[in-house]
Amino acid sequence: MNLFNVYARYSVEPIKGQGCWVWDTKGDKYLDFYGGHAVISIGHAHPHYVEMLQKQVATLPFYSNAVPNALQDELAQKLGELSQHDEYELFLCNSGAEANENALKLASFVNHRKKIIAFKHGFHGRTSAAVNTTDNPNIQAPINKGFEVEFHDWNEPEAVWESLAKQDVCAVIIEGVQGIGGIHIPPQSFLVELADQCRQYRSLLILDEVQSGYGRTGHFFGFQPTPIRPDLITVAKGMGNGFPVGGVLIHPDIESKYGMLGSTFGGSHLACAAGIAVLDVIKEENLMEKAAQSGEKLMKQLKSIEGIKEVRGEGLMIGIELPFNSKDLRNQLLYEEKIFTGSASDPNVLRLLPPMNIGEEEIELFLEKFKKVFPKVSKYNK
Ligand SMILES: Cc1ncc(COP(=O)(O)O)c(C=O)c1O
Repeated sequence: MNLFNVYARYSVEPIKGQGCWVWDTKGDKYLDFYGGHAVISIGHAHPHYVEMLQKQVATLPFYSNAVPNALQDELAQKLGELSQHDEYELFLCNSGAEANENALKLASFVNHRKKIIAFKHGFHGRTSAAVNTTDNPNIQAPINKGFEVEFHDWNEPEAVWESLAKQDVCAVIIEGVQGIGGIHIPPQSFLVELADQCRQYRSLLILDEVQSGYGRTGHFFGFQPTPIRPDLITVAKGMGNGFPVGGVLIHPDIESKYGMLGSTFGGSHLACAAGIAVLDVIKEENLMEKAAQSGEKLMKQLKSIEGIKEVRGEGLMIGIELPFNSKDLRNQLLYEEKIFTGSASDPNVLRLLPPMNIGEEEIELFLEKFKKVFPKVSKYNK
């Protein structure tokens, strides 16, 4: 049987990882500035993570949600503490799209409305409700169109307020920092006003922190430079450092009812062991502070390189906007310099999403290689 061909793949196959490095089938070593798409938060094969997972897989990898699971409580307690959202409640699932799907569903349970506001260049996943709120018609199939979605531009906030005032909007979904769209940060004043307006008109505010969460921006959540307390916050990617786990953090004003959400695999013992190990390491190794410092250093250096259109981001969620398509540069970095970087839906943006414990030496190495390759690629893209 062949694989269903839906991914554009690089021709390098990593088969081993350690920290911020991966090795391919030939034994060649690559610097990972892509983090498997923002998933590798604490580095590949972190010893604490490996130990926790090995222990759990040999003890009890899974039992159903029909029984108590102390690991889920421990994960919720640690997540509440580290994210400073102790009073929230946690629903566990398996991926980012599933987290958003459940958040949208929950919002609709609360106010019985159907219309959603989402933002241009946003990405919330590929399942039915999540993809409907994603501003990319190429990935929406006819069956996905189950409800009305308005796409807005946060630079035109009046249109958002006007829409909310009609009092028929179920929820507003927005990324703390837009990732796939090319690293765009919603203005803090906009987020604060959005939270106020949502409260006033009984629309729920969903912060999609699937990519920008878990410390990557230097804050636990990308929105945290603001004081807002969203109704729902969705997480995945960095939460499991490669083990599939996602979650919805739910404001205590929202009441739970048996059966309203559910998942067979969500919050399995193995997933919780991964999630707990990640939180332990983020806390023990001060990875949020490290991400903030490393990001600042990287961005400062990158901004001094002539010919780049713009460098933007927070912490280790960085977008480099080029005056040309980023593909050649990504390929040169990978095939010539052995560095993984990421693309974006904006073809001119190259994304950097390395593990949060990337070292100073690796940052220097990246900058050295980038400065070597960038002028070459710029020249033949003129
Ligand atoms: C902001 C955001 N939300 C949701 C998703 C979907 O996550 P998943 O691929 O785990 O379903 C992604 C994936 O890239 C994302 O970046």
